Formats: sequence, C-alpha cells, structure tokens
Amino acid sequence: MCGIIGYVGREPVVPLLFEGLKRLEYRGYDSAGIAILEDGHMTLFRRAGKVGQLESEVSARKLSARTGIGHTRWATHGAPTAENAHPHLDCRGKIAVVHNGIIENFHSLKESLIASGHRFRSQTDSEVLAHLVEEHMDEDLLRAVAAAVSKAEGAFALAILSEDDPERIIVARRGSPLVLGKGKCGTFVCSDIPAIVGNATQVAFLADNEVAELTPEGFHVIDFNGNEVKRPLQPVTIDTLSIQKGGFKHFMLKEIHEQPRAVGETLREKIGADASTIHFPGLGELDTDFDQVYFIACGTAYHASLVAECLWERILPVPIQAVIASEFRQRDMHITPRTLVVAVSQSGETIDTLMAVRRAKEKQARTIALVNSIGSAIERESDGVVYTRAGIEIGVAATKTFSAQIAALSLLGLYLASKRGEITKQEVRSKLADLNFLPGQIAEVLTREEEVAALAGRFYGASDFLFLARGSLYPIALEGALKLKEISYIHAEGYPAGEMKHGPIALIDERMPVVVLMSKHVAYEKVLSNIEEVKARKGIVIVLTDQPNDPALTRLVDYTLLLPSAAPISLPVIYTIPLQLLAYHIAVLRGTDVDQPRNLAKTVTVE
Ligand code: AGP
Repeated sequence: MCGIIGYVGREPVVPLLFEGLKRLEYRGYDSAGIAILEDGHMTLFRRAGKVGQLESEVSARKLSARTGIGHTRWATHGAPTAENAHPHLDCRGKIAVVHNGIIENFHSLKESLIASGHRFRSQTDSEVLAHLVEEHMDEDLLRAVAAAVSKAEGAFALAILSEDDPERIIVARRGSPLVLGKGKCGTFVCSDIPAIVGNATQVAFLADNEVAELTPEGFHVIDFNGNEVKRPLQPVTIDTLSIQKGGFKHFMLKEIHEQPRAVGETLREKIGADASTIHFPGLGELDTDFDQVYFIACGTAYHASLVAECLWERILPVPIQAVIASEFRQRDMHITPRTLVVAVSQSGETIDTLMAVRRAKEKQARTIALVNSIGSAIERESDGVVYTRAGIEIGVAATKTFSAQIAALSLLGLYLASKRGEITKQEVRSKLADLNFLPGQIAEVLTREEEVAALAGRFYGASDFLFLARGSLYPIALEGALKLKEISYIHAEGYPAGEMKHGPIALIDERMPVVVLMSKHVAYEKVLSNIEEVKARKGIVIVLTDQPNDPALTRLVDYTLLLPSAAPISLPVIYTIPLQLLAYHIAVLRGTDVDQPRNLAKTVTVE
C-alpha cells in the first residue's frame, strides 16, 4: 500500500526521492508527492496518478535541495486527488508529514485541533499528524514528534520534515514498517528496502513505538517514553539486479520464471545433507504436542494454506483448517494453548493476518509465521518463524512466493509429523526425494509457455472463466481464478469440480471457458464425469492433465495441456505454473497494467 522514502545528506535529494518512489510503485498507489527544503523553504509537489508524471513536472525545474521526503498514497480517507496526496503541511506550511497506516482517532483529534484554530486542507486522517506536531513546536522536533504520536491511535509509519530544522528528518512507527538506511553520502528512511537498494549499504529496522532522528551522519533512536534505543545496522542483502526486470517484459513474468530457483532455495535450506532430515532453526524448541492446527492467511497465501491443509491431514491425526485471516477474527474459533496456528504471508505485514495472530496469542496458542520478508511484524509477534526463500517479489500478483509457500508448508508438515512419530524416517526420505524433483518439473512446465500463450490468444476476449478441480488441486483452481481476476480483470471463479452441479453449472454455455485440472492421482474418473457435464451444456473445456493419450478425455475436451507426471505432493505447484502463465498472457493481450493492477496493493495494511 502506501510507500515512504526520505533522505538527508550531501546529494541532491530529488533524484533519490523519485528513484525510491518508483521502486515503491509495486506496493500499489494512486497519487504521489514529495516535500523538499529548497533554499531553506518547504517546497511541495503532489499529484494524482503515476510517479513518472510527477517526476516529469518536477525535473523540469532546477532543484538543489538535499533534504526531503516522498510518498505514494493508496487512498483510504478521501479521494485520490492532489490535495489528499502526501506530504501534508501544518497551518504555517513549515512542517511536512508523510504517513502510512490509519489514524483511528483522527475524527476526535481533528475536531479538537480545529477548535484550537488549526486549518485543514485535506480529507485525510494523516493531516492531523502535521497539526499535532505543530502544537508541540515549542519543544525540540524529536520530542515534539514523540509527544504528537503518543496521542494517535491506530497504525502508522511516518516521516516528518521541518523548515526550521533543515538537516533533520524525524520518523516514527507503530504497526507499519519503517527501515533506516545508511549510505556513503547520507541517511535514508523507507517503508520497504527496495526503495534504497544501491544507495544505502546498511539498514536497521525501527521497532514499534520508536522515534528516530535522521541527520546526514546517521540516526539516533528513542522510544515513545524518551529512552535511548540501539538499533543495530545490518548489510543490505538485496542486490540491484533482483529489483530489475532482467530482460523480461514484466516483473510478474520474471518471477514466474524464477520459480525453479525460489522453490529450490526454499527446499535446500531446510533439507539435511542426509536427504532424510528437515531443519527449521527458526522454530526453536516448539512443542509439537498440539491437538489442532489452524492456518491463517489472505488471498494467495490462503490458497497455499488450503493446499497445506490437504497435505497435512494425510500425515497428522488432528483437525486441520485453513481460515481466511479476516474471518478468523470475526468467528469464535476454538483456540486453546494446545492449538498450533501457522500464519502464512509473503509480506509478513498484512494487517488481517497480523490481527489474527494477535487473537491466537490472546488465547495462548502456539504461533508460527511463514513469511518471505525478513523482520516483519508477523514474524516478530509469532513464537517461531519459517522463511520462504523466494527472493523479493515485485509484481503485485503473487507467483513465486506461492510455490515457495507450498514447498515450505510441505516440509513443515513432514517435520511436525516426523517429530510426533506419525510417519517413519523412510516415509520422510521418500517424500523429500519426490520434492527434490520439483524445481526441475517446474522448469519443464515453463518450457510450455508458448502453448499457454496460444491459449491466451484464443480466450483473452472471454468475459468469464470457470476453474474446476478436486482435492489438493482445488486450491489451485481458486488460485488460477484469482490470478486471472487480479491482472486481467476478467470475472473468474474456482470451484470444486463436484460442486459445480450445485449451482455454477447454470452459467455454462458455448461462451464459457472451463479450465479443468485433472490428475491420475486425484479422483480422475470423477473429474472426467464433471467434464461430461460441462460438455453436455456446450462449455469450452481446457484441460490440464498428467494422463497422456486417454481417448475418453480426448473425445471430450477442446484443448489439452499435458503436464509432467509427478508425485502427489508436487502436483499443486506443477499445476499452478500454466495458470499463472495463462493469466499473464491474457492480461498482456488485454493491455492491463500487469505488475500494478488497478486497486490492488502488494502489502495490504488496512483491515
Ligand atoms: C496475490 O496475488 C495478492 N495480491 C493477494 O491476494 C495477497 O496474496 C494477499 O494480500 C496476502 O498477502 P501476504 O501474503 O503478503 O500476506
């Protein structure tokens, strides 16, 4: 969602801010802005629309400022207009604020600020922060910000610039991530490391309820009570190449093609040299005597959790359920100290998932974070952590992190089952041997891209799609539909194939493409009968199958994509790849913004 960048140092700030803002575009936004101290004066540039447009306007001027903050905004309170774009100013126009998150008590704060004479110019919740700091301007800026944020309820990450303090930026966080960076020529702040890769060489993560003061020489951190805090610097491990498209037309396509490596790295790190032991150092002494399991997650991560539900229920004799994180909080789920809760999240910052973790912790459940980003809020608040090693994912549509999540969850299930003595060492060894083939099998499916692109050419004009599957492939039908919706804006639904006759069958006619995922390992004959039902209503059937030369199937289907024969544990990932490619090529043909689809954000930090 919103993104923050700030710099104070010896270099001209405007190019650094725009470089950072463009690197944050993938998070999703609808307006952007910067505030700089030009010749000692607060100077603001904001507009609705793309960062590139704002950059063209600003670059036309000769600007030499060396301190500034910038922001990409994803509208929550107030429309995506220039007035609502950040930075926001105080009444005197001397303090500028950029803010990620939501100030929940902004109505009451705004009312009392207006009553004491403050004038507001936007509909945003964020503007109250500028006026709150203004209220404390008789104090040092750092203390003024600490005092101001202590009145705000809700989640925030913010950066503040003051005309009276030209060589300082003050930042604060509660709930939304903020990273401090040190480079050769100055100090940075950002909401997400890619914004400063190549410019900062070391980073430190601000924790909740901390404020920091940035100067050209470095930073200094205190907590909201004014106590000094040490935040250790770590080297930046992301390289510039990983945040570039590397010859691909889109990040999404690059990331689809990175899946053999993403899955390979995720598996390699956790499988011992003897090929029969599994290691999860981030779990410490986790008590495996649990009597039920919940996966909590959103979107694509929820689909990975549904796959895990199918895999784990075969090897763990306890109730296992994947629950959408926002629903987990609404319902009265049965949670006890013997419940294991696995929170699955690429970003580790999704607020619905974070809140569900907090609910689980209130009930003293054991919590594991399964995340791709290191140092995230969900990781920090969970008892243990498992990393997917997919590398940074920039396309808003999750692809390589999904397959890496399934790989990590498969290993986690085997690890827990073997620790509890539910499966033998020999069974673990045999499953690991199956999984070891997975990176190669993904690579093999990727060589079929042209066939999938041809299918996309045939169907990109469709207005609806249905995806059908059973068992462990059903979550992949859901994921195929989600990918298509997200990036091509075509209405698509994933359904259990056996459930189609209970409703969705009414939609089927000669214009409806129905993508069916079938495997000899997953109720093959029953899915074949479901295809008969579709054909009887003249639907167009596109089949993904691992069963070559089946005349019963060939007779029925319109298009077939043959997939490699693989062990059941590997099927969900293998069947995912063509669906990602199908969504991608359809979106390209429809001319949508593949990497930054409309209305979507990479990290969803609102409830
Ligand atoms: C996937 O393509 C989505 N953009 C979205 O559904 C995503 O998976 C969801 O918001 C969860 O994000 P997380 O994994 O970072 O928690």
